Amino acid sequence: MCGIVGYIGKKEKITKIISCLENLEYRGYDSSGIAYLDDGKINIIKKTGRIKNLKDFISDTETSLAITHTRWATHGQANDINAHPHSVGKITIVHNGIIENYQELKNKLQELGIIFKTETDTEVAAALLNKLYNDKNDILKAILAFEKIARGSYAIAIIVEGNNNLYVVKKDSPLIIGLKNDGYYIASDVPAILKETNRYITLEDYEFAEIKEEKLTIYNNKMEIVNYEVKAFESGVEQIDKGNYEHFMLKEINEEDTVIKNTFNYYFEHFDEIIDITKYKNIEIIACGSAYNVGLIGKNLIEENLDIKTDVYLASEYRYQKQFTEKETLVIAISQSGETADTLAAIKIANKKATTLSIVNVIDSSIARESKQVLYTKAGIEIAVATTKAYISQLVVLTMLVIKGLKVKEQLNDEKSLLSEIENLPKLVRNLIEKDDYKKIAEKIYKSNDMYFIGRGIDASIAREASLKMKEVSYVHSEYYAAGELKHGTISLIEEKTPVIGIISDINILPKTMSNIKETASRGANIIIVTSEDISKENYKYVINISKVNKLLQPILLVIPFQLLAYETAKLRGCSIDKPRNLAKSVTVE
Ligand code: F6R
Repeated sequence: MCGIVGYIGKKEKITKIISCLENLEYRGYDSSGIAYLDDGKINIIKKTGRIKNLKDFISDTETSLAITHTRWATHGQANDINAHPHSVGKITIVHNGIIENYQELKNKLQELGIIFKTETDTEVAAALLNKLYNDKNDILKAILAFEKIARGSYAIAIIVEGNNNLYVVKKDSPLIIGLKNDGYYIASDVPAILKETNRYITLEDYEFAEIKEEKLTIYNNKMEIVNYEVKAFESGVEQIDKGNYEHFMLKEINEEDTVIKNTFNYYFEHFDEIIDITKYKNIEIIACGSAYNVGLIGKNLIEENLDIKTDVYLASEYRYQKQFTEKETLVIAISQSGETADTLAAIKIANKKATTLSIVNVIDSSIARESKQVLYTKAGIEIAVATTKAYISQLVVLTMLVIKGLKVKEQLNDEKSLLSEIENLPKLVRNLIEKDDYKKIAEKIYKSNDMYFIGRGIDASIAREASLKMKEVSYVHSEYYAAGELKHGTISLIEEKTPVIGIISDINILPKTMSNIKETASRGANIIIVTSEDISKENYKYVINISKVNKLLQPILLVIPFQLLAYETAKLRGCSIDKPRNLAKSVTVE
């Protein structure tokens, strides 16, 4: 995690550079800081908490060189001293990633008499760079030597006392260089600097760059100059603006009808790009968090429709368990950011054994580049930490993989009616978003300490996502449960007025899930039901009805009420909806 923005050029207001950094707050907001050239001297300001705290100490000064950082604390508490930038001797750096051998390096540097002021691995990186710079008297050679010694992941921006250039180096953490007519920006991702430029270069692992006001030189790890490709970022600036919405989460949920339309349209128009998954003996899906929850739905859709055995793994566990991945396996990584460290590590392992495919939202991200094949979701930039529209677009891509498989197997029955349902889907999504149930129900449940989301089959996977969304944005403790499993222990937690949210999207399992719901109602639970079935005879007060659609499309509709219920609950509880406490959007540490 952590976000980096830097600038070198003719002159830029510090406030403008910091406003770019604010676009990276989704990566962490424990503290922030800036180092900038001020009358030939490096001035450093660091503050605990959100970037707005730092802004109180920033004047309207202009600078020709600056590095800034927003932190998600890993080594050492979130306080001013541990905030980046870190300076040792002539070197000042900001860092995203983890130096895994920092303790060993710290011990050696301490033996040489270096005294550390912070608990961070980043200060160790700065001290190492400073030592190497003193030894070699050449910053490029020092960076090259650093790459050979430091283990772990890093995107580092460096400024050197007495030298007006900006240096960057990266391994396993993203870093891009943005090109302006009168200078350069560096950042952890392109949207951060989109208001300044959309032209950028992606730095590859072990590459490092010397950036002068008017010249950029990129080196590989043999110190050879490399040619670079300048790309143009497609999405518009409006994507990083809240517009009239109170929160990005609400804006992004409201974009879901368009996202669904765009993703389906793109893949129907580029049907050849969709790989034929029926060629594979089995499928393994690896992902984290909500993307893992999408994977569970994918498993259900693939197994039910294509009869291919599919296992879903938490990426953070994949490496540590027995792997049955073989040559005939297709390994699918799902990731919005394309930077999740655990998913990236898992796909690197899978690459050695099998065909890998990633379903990723961020173009050119590390997971996209690491996988043998990639299918991009068409969600646009997602800013709220809790994923909503990207989750939906991942579901759409998995659905397209199944549709392609069915086509290949010549088993796509009644294609015409499926296509017309797909065409009609955005309208149903819009209607669902515009329902007024969510706020009313949130008002009934927002004071609860615990909630339970239950369902069977594919509904259990939706329940899992519903529960995750609720706890991450509203801070209410919630659990998901396969409805039939509840009475094997968890039902002891149900008390008078505990919200139990039942999900029913299949007439065949309706009676069973309904029995489980009633079991909790008899024990005083406050029942809410989200269903595509007709349960009018059941007489429950809080029912959210969703349209019945083709089974392939039903999960897409099912999840939306839960995103809005979590949003409204969080709002009533006064939570920080777009940046929930302790969470970061791009989890680049394992
Ligand atoms: C939940 C959420 C997280 C992410 C997870 C994986 O709303 O956003 O659970 O889904 O951290 O992130 P990506 O998809 O970027 O790999």
